[in-house]
Amino acid sequence: MSFVTSLNLSHFRSYKHVHLKLDKRPVAIFGANGSGKTNIIEAISLFSPGRGMRRASAEAMMRRPESLGWKITGELETTDRTLEIESVSENGTSRQVKIDGKPTSQVELAKHTRVLWLIPSMDRLWTEGAESRRRFLDRIVLSFFPKHAEHSLSYEKAMRERNRLLKEQVLDAHWYAALENQMAKSGTAIDRARIKAVDRISQAQANASTQFPIAKLELRQREGTLPETEADLLTAFAESRFRDLAVGRTMVGPHKTDMYGAYAAKGVPASDCSTGEQKALLVSIILANARALAQDQGAKPLILLDEISAHLDTDRRGALYKEICDLNLQAWMTGTEPELFSEFGNKAQFLYVTDQDGTSIISQP
Ligand SMILES: Nc1ncnc2c1ncn2[C@@H]1O[C@H](COP(=O)(O)OP(=O)(O)O)[C@@H](O)[C@H]1O
Ligand SMILES: [Mg+2]
Repeated sequence: MSFVTSLNLSHFRSYKHVHLKLDKRPVAIFGANGSGKTNIIEAISLFSPGRGMRRASAEAMMRRPESLGWKITGELETTDRTLEIESVSENGTSRQVKIDGKPTSQVELAKHTRVLWLIPSMDRLWTEGAESRRRFLDRIVLSFFPKHAEHSLSYEKAMRERNRLLKEQVLDAHWYAALENQMAKSGTAIDRARIKAVDRISQAQANASTQFPIAKLELRQREGTLPETEADLLTAFAESRFRDLAVGRTMVGPHKTDMYGAYAAKGVPASDCSTGEQKALLVSIILANARALAQDQGAKPLILLDEISAHLDTDRRGALYKEICDLNLQAWMTGTEPELFSEFGNKAQFLYVTDQDGTSIISQP
């Protein structure tokens, strides 16, 4: 389980000081545009590794005009215990994380928390470039396999070095070998974890009674199949060297993997579906992810659904809320009007956000 039972914000974005006590119900946040709703769930997203939901720098998240730095603390009830998580940036420097008061790495944080999100920019996920789909995929993978964070860091580090050699037109093969070994090792782990996660999501979609359409998912490399073994990947890097030298960067490997999606029942690629259908496919994947985690690990993710009712008709919206309640998930949702969450009745807790002279204020009606 994962439930946020208290949340404190200090000088984070439009907030000065916030102290919230929460119960385990889903959280419906409403208020006018620009009042500060998304800022709250962005803060929750910083309870997981990475740059958070908006991929913003720590500096951008400093409350202006004071620019003092910021601090987010929360109490998280997980399956076995209650954690106190602190995420801090002093003067806008990169954020530091503490669990129960002890400084820890973001990789370590992945072992304790699982946070998934859908945000309005993902309405274009199926039609834009592969990078955002890969990022979406990797958050799912991370939720199943916390070590994915380590493998990704190690792969990227070695690739940066390799790309530097390529840019400097270094031709000596033995300079490449050690880096490519490292990349093949972590790259294979990345590929395997992604394949397993996609299989698990497919299974969790197939076995569910849900109103959301099944997304058929497939991992693809621009050039043919995924290398299956470390040796295959090693060969692929070696064979690509000549071409990579010409462009000055690495052109093969898991950093080029794309996730293809289709509306299974119609056999239509997700990119050709209507905006509403595209959104429904994403919701289907997120719910399958939550279901699978609950089954496999007894660990329920926090899910952040920004402006969730856009592109969902009333029936679908009701179906989503029902599934959230049935799964007993603490979903954090935003919308401009409280009526957008009326189907919850008293099964959700509400936060009302207003802007008062440039400072966001939260009341719990
Ligand atoms: N670093 C910052 N310091 C102060 N205010 C900020 C900062 N970043 C964003 N804001 C303000 O936060 C508000 C937007 O909050 P947001 O949560 O996106 O609103 P919404 O309720 O529409 O989701 C805007 O008024 C913006 O000016
Ligand atoms: Mg918003």
